[in-house]
Amino acid sequence: MPDSGVSSTVQQPRPGVTVARATVRDADAIHSMVNFWAARGDMLPRTLGETYENLRDFFVVREDGEAVACGALHITWADLAELKSLAVREDRQSAGYGSMIVRACVEEGRNLGLERLFALTYRPGFFERLGWEQVDVMTLPRKVWNECYRCPKFPGCNEIAMVIDLETAAVPAATN
Ligand SMILES: CC(C)(COP(=O)(O)OP(=O)(O)OC[C@H]1O[C@@H](n2cnc3c(N)ncnc32)[C@H](O)[C@@H]1OP(=O)(O)O)[C@@H](O)C(=O)NCCC(=O)NCCS
Repeated sequence: MPDSGVSSTVQQPRPGVTVARATVRDADAIHSMVNFWAARGDMLPRTLGETYENLRDFFVVREDGEAVACGALHITWADLAELKSLAVREDRQSAGYGSMIVRACVEEGRNLGLERLFALTYRPGFFERLGWEQVDVMTLPRKVWNECYRCPKFPGCNEIAMVIDLETAAVPAATN
């Protein structure tokens, strides 16, 4: 099986930094990071209630115990899951944390037996660096549009669909 660059659920690129499953103690930080970027049009907003309801989908990167990046893997169907709500705190950009979350989700997807992950994003280049490929959004099942109806941009959204095939892709290993 290709190496995702993540060891089980916890990776430690430098002292004090971990990637792990979210707990209820991370909910406020996740809610705040997601809505910070949602207000800038980068992703869908979430209420705190939705954050708790979906908390088991989330991974977080913690610095000395504090969540500074998050992302969720939400199962869509037997063979497909969406990587969503990927957000890194504004003052922690380009520290490798977004990549850590993506790798954790890829490993989780493989452990769950999924075939493919997808993401809808305005940052295709970031995903391409991690082995994802751009696809025509119409090749994804209609079910992926479930949440689009509540997006302020609907139907004028120009997010790009990215996918990774978990059976064939070798995700570039972490460099930090
Ligand atoms: C996109 C995001 C998650 C990346 O997280 P990050 O922690 O900054 O990313 P990493 O540090 O792991 O990787 C950064 C690398 O990706 C590159 N990168 C980031 N966005 C990119 C883009 N659109 N195109 C090409 N490369 C990109 C950076 O240049 C950087 O490369 P470098 O290390 O050689 O300088 C973060 O910028 C973010 O929170 N953005 C706002 C929310 C958002 O758009 N989320 C994605 C929705 S799916």
